[in-house]
Amino acid sequence: MQLLKEKILSEGQALSKDILKVDSFLNHQMDPVLMKEIGKEFVKRFAHKEITKVLTIESSGIGPGLMAALELDVPLIFARKRKSLTLTEGLVTASVHSFTKKETNTISVSDKYIKARDKVLIIDDFLAVGQAARGLADICKQVGAEVVGIGIVIEKAFQSGGKDLRDQGFQVESLARIKELNVGQITFIEEREGAIVHV
Ligand code: G4P
Repeated sequence: MQLLKEKILSEGQALSKDILKVDSFLNHQMDPVLMKEIGKEFVKRFAHKEITKVLTIESSGIGPGLMAALELDVPLIFARKRKSLTLTEGLVTASVHSFTKKETNTISVSDKYIKARDKVLIIDDFLAVGQAARGLADICKQVGAEVVGIGIVIEKAFQSGGKDLRDQGFQVESLARIKELNVGQITFIEEREGAIVHV
């Protein structure tokens, strides 16, 4: 997605070979115009999937997830990482270990909002090792809902998550795929008409 790549190049900062800082439009301040276009792009890529729910994880997945849900005219559910005061019954949980943050969270969703008849689009801001997406897919599996696709804003394609999830048969659509990060340098994988061209 050209607009997103331009934004990453103009405002993103490669902090190391592993970490991209995008606080100005995705992880802290959010750019609503860009989020709206991201929502539209996800819907284009998952057209004809008869999606009934969008599922994401707090907190940075909520912006792009909500815009996709708005475009699809379906509800958004965000998995919680922390216990809620009011959400205590009928929780479906999964354990998600973050290799980036070196912490494990139990994520939860109420069984009131995802049912066996649902066709779920999973959305997240970053894809690294794929633990968050795997945890969300696990929650869908526990309730018998179908995961029709996984939409990612920024995939760090040099990490294993994208390949692993695609190998498992999931349709993973990433709007920007990063081939390599070096301090001060961001390189994308360019994809045109199915062909992958490295630049
Ligand atoms: P994984 O789900 O693909 O396995 O990713 P991982 O556990 O490594 O990522 C854990 C957290 O770190 C996630 O945020 C993810 O978005 C974030 N993250 C991973 N790599 C990067 C990166 O290069 N840049 C930035 N900015 N974030 C990265 P989170 O803990 O869920 O945070 P939030 O959603 O509350 O913001």
